[in-house]
Amino acid sequence: MKKATARPLFLYICNTMTNRFFLITALLLAATASAHAENHILDTRNTSFVINAEKDKTPQFVYFGARLEKGDVGILAKNHKAMYAYPARFGKTSESASLSVEMPDGNVSVDLRAESVSQGSWEGGSTLDILCKDPLYPFFTVTLHWRSYEREDMIETWTEISNAGKKPMVLHRFDSGFLPVQEGDVWLSSLHGAWGAEAKLVSEPLSRGTREISNHNGLRNNSMAHSEIMLSLDGEPRENSGRVIGAALCYGGNFQIRLVTLDDGIHRLHAGISPEDSWYTLAKGETFTTPKLAYTWSNEGLSGASRNFHRWGRKYMLAHGGQPNDILLNSWEGVYFNIDEPAMQQMAKDIASIGGELFVIDDGWFGSEKYPRDNDKQGLGDWGLQTKKLPHGLQGMVETCKAEGIKFGIWLEPEMVNIKSELYEKHPDWVLNAAGREPVTGRGGTQMVLDLCNPAVQDFVFDVLDRTMKSAPGISYVKWDCNNYMRSPGSPYLKNQNHLYIEYMRGISKVLDRVRAAYPELVIQLCAGGGSRVSYGFLPWFDEFWTSDNTDALQRIRIQWGTSYFFPAEAMACHVSASPNHQTGREIPLKFRIDVAMSGRLGFELQPSTLSDEEKEICRNAVADYKKIRETVQCGDIYRLVSPYDDKGFASLMYCSEDKSKAVFFWWRTESFRDSRPARVPLAGLDPDKTYKITELNKVKGYTRVALDGKTVSGRYLRENGFDIQDRWNRNIGNSSASHVILLEAQ
Ligand code: DGJ
Repeated sequence: MKKATARPLFLYICNTMTNRFFLITALLLAATASAHAENHILDTRNTSFVINAEKDKTPQFVYFGARLEKGDVGILAKNHKAMYAYPARFGKTSESASLSVEMPDGNVSVDLRAESVSQGSWEGGSTLDILCKDPLYPFFTVTLHWRSYEREDMIETWTEISNAGKKPMVLHRFDSGFLPVQEGDVWLSSLHGAWGAEAKLVSEPLSRGTREISNHNGLRNNSMAHSEIMLSLDGEPRENSGRVIGAALCYGGNFQIRLVTLDDGIHRLHAGISPEDSWYTLAKGETFTTPKLAYTWSNEGLSGASRNFHRWGRKYMLAHGGQPNDILLNSWEGVYFNIDEPAMQQMAKDIASIGGELFVIDDGWFGSEKYPRDNDKQGLGDWGLQTKKLPHGLQGMVETCKAEGIKFGIWLEPEMVNIKSELYEKHPDWVLNAAGREPVTGRGGTQMVLDLCNPAVQDFVFDVLDRTMKSAPGISYVKWDCNNYMRSPGSPYLKNQNHLYIEYMRGISKVLDRVRAAYPELVIQLCAGGGSRVSYGFLPWFDEFWTSDNTDALQRIRIQWGTSYFFPAEAMACHVSASPNHQTGREIPLKFRIDVAMSGRLGFELQPSTLSDEEKEICRNAVADYKKIRETVQCGDIYRLVSPYDDKGFASLMYCSEDKSKAVFFWWRTESFRDSRPARVPLAGLDPDKTYKITELNKVKGYTRVALDGKTVSGRYLRENGFDIQDRWNRNIGNSSASHVILLEAQ
């Protein structure tokens, strides 16, 4: 797991300037400083972030936006309203607060004053830390942290709350960070959804009042609402122009994002762990560290903000980010629970024969003699191998795959247990369940969540992965699933049930830290019945995520579109599945299914033996073509062009390499309009001063190609005109299924 570590370059500590050196330095600084010497600036390539902090005064947020010229800092106070950098319950109590504390004596006011400021740098940018104290409670400290990512135009903020007193205190609210947005016509874009319909984009103007986005299911936190948002500052959201602030709370647990707009028209963005059912008792001597809130600013529209998130995500947040992921076949939709060795061996051979690189066995390979995992009602928790299904074990599959020149991966769901399992019979006290209540079960009518607050359970969960890995050295990929949420909140282990949601996240974090320490090279997919855990809170331990259990290509266009707002294609698993589709029953031609999956991390989720030779050949060609564009798609810059949410009848996006020498253009018909001629799509990501060779990929007999296939055209022309897409009604495929993948290579 990559972590950015801060290395302070210089410190000036106002309250400890006791020796002569510091005193002289301070006098010199004071002598040369302007009237705004207390402004602390974090610059990135294209942005500036300014906080004003003066000893004994409440730190003020001053500015976040386009990078400032040196002289501009002096005028900020005149042109921007200063606001509390981290509002607490004192003074401006009519405003929304980020921090709310019940002191040991019952006082619920908090007055934060800057005690010391330190500014420094780390290899990726700069840092700013402000230590605050409350004059009435000297044992109570709050440290506000910011860290900039210079190249990626990102700022991270988080807060440390410490109790050095002798008695506990209670935190009623403890945001990670606060950001005022002082613009007029601001629109919010956020992601919502459900199982099979993840990451649905919702855009709305922000008006007076409070808009809350939150999720409380404890485990699968982005299942219904995402902890990431975009704010378009210049009216209705646009993809490739206009100023945008994007924000992501990097936390996998219950969260709350609040946008509070008062009559002054200023939008106050609060983000943090949801305090609902999570009041936190801060013991004496304890420090509570919030998760990080990451934000970015771009004047290149929503896609510009996404590019910043993707670059930052690949470099700092994803395990092995920046290394393109393998093309795989996953067994789930092909065979479901019907795992057996000959079928698995054949699937491994089939994916190898079309050029794939990895075969993954999904659910159904394990269990105990009493509770074999033959369906979703039993066996979770009993992680023994079902030898009658795989007589040569997982090691046998590793060998088969090795012989085919591909890698092997396996499915696990270690946080869960079925009541019908030997594990539950032995440890009924290892499951989450509210005291005195009948067990509330999930999937299969028997699934419950293990109590990850309990260190013994943490050991068990780590051991599930460790034992599986040791049973078959050579496993190179694990799909880590999570198909339940906290239906009955209660930990038999915890004393304070208010800490349940937070302690679960701490528990799973400890386990995942151990997993990564023991298996740093292992590729791990994050899955939660699809994309319910897709969040920067989880991703640092994972290489990729299963975007959705819905593999219907038409719906996937929307799901992948929303997901791409924050998460790079490298991490977005997109699999070609059978037709009719298992989730929607819709029939979609193979080329279209492939063309949609090629815009993320391509894979397959079907039984290859059901494919005709012609279809296998189409897959083989597509895999070969995908290898030509994989790096550009997975590690390139995204430009979303025409949104599937705009009901234009088609959708389109492109990826470009950073130097714009290579680009891939995707175009998918989303509605059937007979004889319509779709509008041209200007290719926003190209370099106008380069000329590009155009090659249509995934060519399939019977489909119209773009007329410019094989031609060389200037980037300037394509940026202005795009392609004339001429797909007409075709009796065999229907024009609703037209799609194009076009490679552009600078000459
Ligand atoms: C839910 C996942 O999303 C599916 O892909 C599959 O792994 C099943 N669980 C297996 O039970």
